[in-house]
Amino acid sequence: MIDGDQTLGDDLARFVRAVGPEHTPVQAEMAAFAAEQEFPNIGPDAGAVLRLLARLVDAETVFEFGSGFGYSASWFLRGGAGRVILTEFDGDELERGREFLSDAGLTTRCVFEEGDAMEIVDRYGGPFDVVLIDHQKSRYADAFEAVRAKLSPGGVIVADNVTRGPADFDATLAHLEDDAALPADDPQTTGISTYLDTVRADESFESLLLPVGSGLCVSTKVE
Ligand SMILES: C[S@@+](CC[C@H](N)C(=O)[O-])C[C@H]1O[C@@H](n2cnc3c(N)ncnc32)[C@H](O)[C@@H]1O
Repeated sequence: MIDGDQTLGDDLARFVRAVGPEHTPVQAEMAAFAAEQEFPNIGPDAGAVLRLLARLVDAETVFEFGSGFGYSASWFLRGGAGRVILTEFDGDELERGREFLSDAGLTTRCVFEEGDAMEIVDRYGGPFDVVLIDHQKSRYADAFEAVRAKLSPGGVIVADNVTRGPADFDATLAHLEDDAALPADDPQTTGISTYLDTVRADESFESLLLPVGSGLCVSTKVE
């Protein structure tokens, strides 16, 4: 099983993977590096969604909250994104990302920002055509608030790790289905649930869950 595909049942996940897409040579190196480090990148199936979205909205600017070493950015760039703003507070990871993306000949379309994504985003006025939220789960809703006005009409926000990751699947589902109380001692689950509550309540956005990779909540700005 390739990391990032466990949201689907085994057979369906194999089917999705068999259809592809495949990694580029540099993405294959990134994936091997991630496996070695047990680093949770978004995986190829969710990556293909990022590529698709960049292509569909003809993305000029993409903003990422939590870029690691550039794997998710590489998919946006494969989708033709004009510019990806990568944010990462681990300087070594970001530097590794710069090397990988340089090997792929993609750095002219990258802005590497080391530091707290929540502070970095305030330095950008937008518009953003696609935003990836993939940093601390307890700050997802704040990230949404930070970018909602900066998203272009028809723009898309993607939040990763909705169904798999540090949040508790059953507790998140119970909250969605039965309005079960959020666990006060679990900021990860509370963070994901609060994000879903926030984005689903906003009438300017249409949201759905794509059950690929670790579960993507995809929200389009429709106003
Ligand atoms: C799940 S990984 C990101 C993976 C990446 N999006 C990918 O798929 O290739 C989360 C990353 O976010 C970084 N991070 C967490 N909170 C952050 C913050 N507030 N600002 C910047 N980076 C952050 C972590 O250091 C980690 O590298």
